[in-house]
Amino acid sequence: MNKEQLAVLSKFNHRVIKHPQFESAFSKIEEAYQLNDEIGFQLNLICIGMSGTGKSTLKRRLVKKYPESYAKDRKIVPVLVIDTPSLPTVKNMAEGMLFQLGDPAFFKGSAVDKTGRILNYIKSCQVRLIIFDELQHFIDQGSRAAPRQVSDWLKTLIDQSGSSAVLMGLEQSEYILRINEQLRRRFSRRVDLKPFSIACSSSFRDFTKVIKGLYRTADMPLSGKLSQDLFKRWHFATNGIMAYMVNLIISAYQVAQREGYASIHQECLEQAFIESIWSEGEGRLNPFSKSFNFNRLIKPGMPFHKIETKELAI
Ligand SMILES: Nc1ncnc2c1ncn2[C@@H]1O[C@H](COP(=O)(O)OP(=O)(O)O)[C@@H](O)[C@H]1O
Ligand SMILES: [Mg+2]
Repeated sequence: MNKEQLAVLSKFNHRVIKHPQFESAFSKIEEAYQLNDEIGFQLNLICIGMSGTGKSTLKRRLVKKYPESYAKDRKIVPVLVIDTPSLPTVKNMAEGMLFQLGDPAFFKGSAVDKTGRILNYIKSCQVRLIIFDELQHFIDQGSRAAPRQVSDWLKTLIDQSGSSAVLMGLEQSEYILRINEQLRRRFSRRVDLKPFSIACSSSFRDFTKVIKGLYRTADMPLSGKLSQDLFKRWHFATNGIMAYMVNLIISAYQVAQREGYASIHQECLEQAFIESIWSEGEGRLNPFSKSFNFNRLIKPGMPFHKIETKELAI
């Protein structure tokens, strides 16, 4: 790979695309931060979105805008980010928080000790916003007692911390609010990150703008005008999900470079779809193929088959 190609791939890796829904979610979360920072107001939000819609990207952008720093004798952590462990318990959640806050003895002490230390650190590190990501792990595990216990702990911790908080996760994360009424009351504000929709004209317009931006980032001349037909194919190929859109353009760029093409034309996308989204997506099952049948790829075994959330009897 030459320098130019590496530079393009690095751009795809680092560039955040500020589409309207993403910007709106960002400003709502930022407001929760600012209200806390300026007047000590606690504003809580739940941010829900399918995998790949950009939740963790939002979180990273907030941390970048309000980064950690070091004062004389302490760490300043304006935005504290916690990735929920795959099997959350009070112990591992508390240790994770202490670790992020820079406690060298994060594993020491009883649950009560740890909670007390977390609260002290939150004050001294001047935490204004706590983001809990991957919230669905609370309900993925299927155990009855743990989610209840941890969500009660979380509620108390958030109350006592005085900071604003954001709970982030896949759609099934909302279940944690259903089983915990006190948490539900505190997180009545919701921010959604949804895939771009073909049925909604403004959302589809945003989708086409993002795709045009992706082509521009690839920095290769276009083989022709980007047509409505091509945008529609892009939608069938990605279901309007950012992660697939970015993967597809990166892969199409690589195909074009490998094959020595001057532009990313439809055949590059056809091959890229197979390489980066669905290895069995050939012929009429490939949105960029001339023989594509324009059926959504949502049947079992296809890339957008939605695995229904099994509702756990908690
Ligand atoms: N606004 C965005 N700008 C650029 N890339 C994005 C954006 N949103 C999502 N992506 C791409 O999608 C991938 C998955 O995003 P991520 O934030 O991890 O989604 P989620 O946490 O919702 O599952 C990222 O690695 C990135 O490539
Ligand atoms: Mg994520």
